[in-house]
Amino acid sequence: MLILSCPSKLWMLEEMLRKCLPQALVVHGTVMNINRGNPAGYEVIVDSWPKFKAVLTRPRREVALDNSDLYANVYTAFYHDFDVYRSVILDTDVINWAQTFRIQGNQDGVYQVSQNAAAIKKVQLSATFYITYLHPNPNKLAVHQLDPGFTLSTLNASHVQLLNETWPYGGNEQSRRFLANMVQYFFSACILDPDGQPISWSVMDPLGAMGHGYTLPAHRRKHYLAVAGRSLAMKAHAAGYPIYGHVALDNFHMQGINERRGYQKLSELCHICSIHPEI
Ligand SMILES: CC(C)(COP(=O)(O)OP(=O)(O)OC[C@H]1O[C@@H](n2cnc3c(N)ncnc32)[C@H](O)[C@@H]1OP(=O)(O)O)[C@@H](O)C(=O)NCCC(=O)NCCS
Repeated sequence: MLILSCPSKLWMLEEMLRKCLPQALVVHGTVMNINRGNPAGYEVIVDSWPKFKAVLTRPRREVALDNSDLYANVYTAFYHDFDVYRSVILDTDVINWAQTFRIQGNQDGVYQVSQNAAAIKKVQLSATFYITYLHPNPNKLAVHQLDPGFTLSTLNASHVQLLNETWPYGGNEQSRRFLANMVQYFFSACILDPDGQPISWSVMDPLGAMGHGYTLPAHRRKHYLAVAGRSLAMKAHAAGYPIYGHVALDNFHMQGINERRGYQKLSELCHICSIHPEI
């Protein structure tokens, strides 16, 4: 087991993972962010180098200080060899089982091994599955004009409270910290109303996904997300990121929007496994 900390190896890993897209999307996106300043404070673990069979990203110990923080304690996983991946998770100390954490990946084995771990390590597992969408060419996203008085901008610290209040998975201090970190360090786009208040937005997450798409109910279906989403996608695309995001299985409205905008649905779902140590 190796912690890959040498910058040249991490750049090499990014290139290797790029050849494993789309299955490796979440690990690749995380490694891209690690290689560009690592604002979320993650690190990379491989079973061997350079011919790795399993790769994980995890928060550094000094970042994962709060054992109950499901927003900060995020692992991502990709493997070439299921048995090696299983062994990395179950037979080494790569995972801190005393913590609540999420592990995310687009391969079925990520869920299977989490199920095994729940039984063996006596932890609780709740798994959620999302559809992952990838845009092959964001230059083709439609251009829409904003109504007079509305402007395209980027999110800042003064908007975090609104994001936290409106995010279905937010509303607490840990989610506020997580959103504040994203708004400060990652690409974002928003539409401001004539009073300068955000009414629609999207922001990249630490895994390189385009996320948190939201439009205030009074302003929906006026292509505000289309404008904010396109702006975010173009910034990320210019910086070399694949343009991808996840949508809940029951969010048919957003699935329709993505499909009409040319996003392609991956055959593998994104598995988000949340692990809770038994109390
Ligand atoms: C999903 C959401 C962000 C969309 O924001 P929005 O600003 O309304 O989106 P847009 O105006 O850019 O696009 C709306 C689409 O719905 C279409 N639409 C308009 N009226 C519609 C109707 N009555 N029924 C279904 N679709 C309709 C529009 O034509 C447009 O599609 P098009 O681009 O193909 O023309 C917004 O509904 C929202 O905040 N929902 C809750 C949070 C959420 O689900 N976020 C996504 C998480 S992955």
